[in-house]
Amino acid sequence: MKRLNIGGRGPKNGGDNPRESGVGAENDPRNIGDQNEENSASARGAEVELSPQEREEQIKSAAPDGGEIQQTPSMEQSRREEEGQSESAAQEGESSGGSRVSVVDESPPRPGPPNGVSDDEYKWHTYKVYPSGRPDAVEFIDTYKSFGRSHILRGLNMGLPEGMVSMILGPSGTGKSVCIKHMVGLLYPDKGDCLVHGQSVPNMADDDLFDMRKKFGLLFQDGALFGSMNLYDNVAFPLRQHTEKGEDEVEDIVMRRLNEVGLASALGKMPNELSGGMRKRAGFARALVLEPDIVLFDEPDSGLDPVRTALLGELILEIHRDMMDEAKEKQKEHLPTFCVITHDIMSARRVADYINVLWKGRIVEAGPAEDMLNSENPFIRQFLSGESQGPLTMD
Ligand SMILES: Nc1ncnc2c1ncn2[C@@H]1O[C@H](COP(=O)(O)OP(=O)(O)OP(=O)(O)O)[C@@H](O)[C@H]1O
Ligand SMILES: [Mg+2]
Repeated sequence: MKRLNIGGRGPKNGGDNPRESGVGAENDPRNIGDQNEENSASARGAEVELSPQEREEQIKSAAPDGGEIQQTPSMEQSRREEEGQSESAAQEGESSGGSRVSVVDESPPRPGPPNGVSDDEYKWHTYKVYPSGRPDAVEFIDTYKSFGRSHILRGLNMGLPEGMVSMILGPSGTGKSVCIKHMVGLLYPDKGDCLVHGQSVPNMADDDLFDMRKKFGLLFQDGALFGSMNLYDNVAFPLRQHTEKGEDEVEDIVMRRLNEVGLASALGKMPNELSGGMRKRAGFARALVLEPDIVLFDEPDSGLDPVRTALLGELILEIHRDMMDEAKEKQKEHLPTFCVITHDIMSARRVADYINVLWKGRIVEAGPAEDMLNSENPFIRQFLSGESQGPLTMD
């Protein structure tokens, strides 16, 4: 049994960076010098005491048919002491199947509302983060972003655990797409940080940013295919653009990906000859050709009928499973992390391992899907069941 100690994600928590102990980050050039304690996972209280092999085992044991992961009492106690909380506030938990790995019955100190906003507006934000049992591939740390007078991200603390299919859910206009743009360095925070595998995106030099973007596969709403290229060339495009691979190798990769998404027989078609669902699958195939560590889907199901939405959800899960197997087999440094933004609650229920609910620029609650679906927070309950009655209204 592996030992694991996870605290709530909050701006002022203490603790060790999981990567520092997990993958020997003291020698890891990915950890840039100006990443101080406040700017690391430690600032959010996540502690994982594992070597790479142990981490691998732990991840296996945290998998859906899962094992049992215990908190490390001494580390947990010291973190609570730092936070000035009573020992009785923490509770050890055990796996009960699903992706749930432990239960922490404590909340980090509740941050105040953003400047100029009443407490009342944030009354549903418990900021509770149920532990995922894994380090985060992407972390937002106290991130603020405004456009003129529109304050979109207002002290966002959010993580996408490595090796999981995460969802970001939230009402329209809350900044979900803005989050994706921060992850790939298309937008920079006004304040706070966004880390990808421990590296601060806003502090990256241009060359590093260019390399870092290769970690990502992106799938936009309509697949964003080039209208003047056939399906094959669309999927081959990133390989021809970013690698030195010869055409034989390109063909192997493209055909493998097209087979995976069920489009091998349509390779000569132009995008306008494809249905909406086919275009999305084509976009998915293209997003995967560079073997990304992190795949981002911004509303992949918009405009699809319920059956095709369900099939796309299955495809996402299937491909994630295949990529997990491959990453383990090849002993890759990082496990594949998927992040899906959707308004489709059924998709979230079917596909998500981990759910972040974003509202008013902050996380209301986040955690493994099972914990979130059992949340007692009225806002989360209403949102995840898609009901009209509840704290969330049209305004
Ligand atoms: N580059 C930009 N300049 C100005 N305002 C922007 C910019 N990008 C986003 N916004 C604003 O930020 C807010 C959040 O946008 P975002 O697209 O992230 O919302 P969303 O949560 O993805 O919504 P939806 O679910 O409708 O896609 C919106 O009000 C949008 O107009
Ligand atoms: Mg959006």
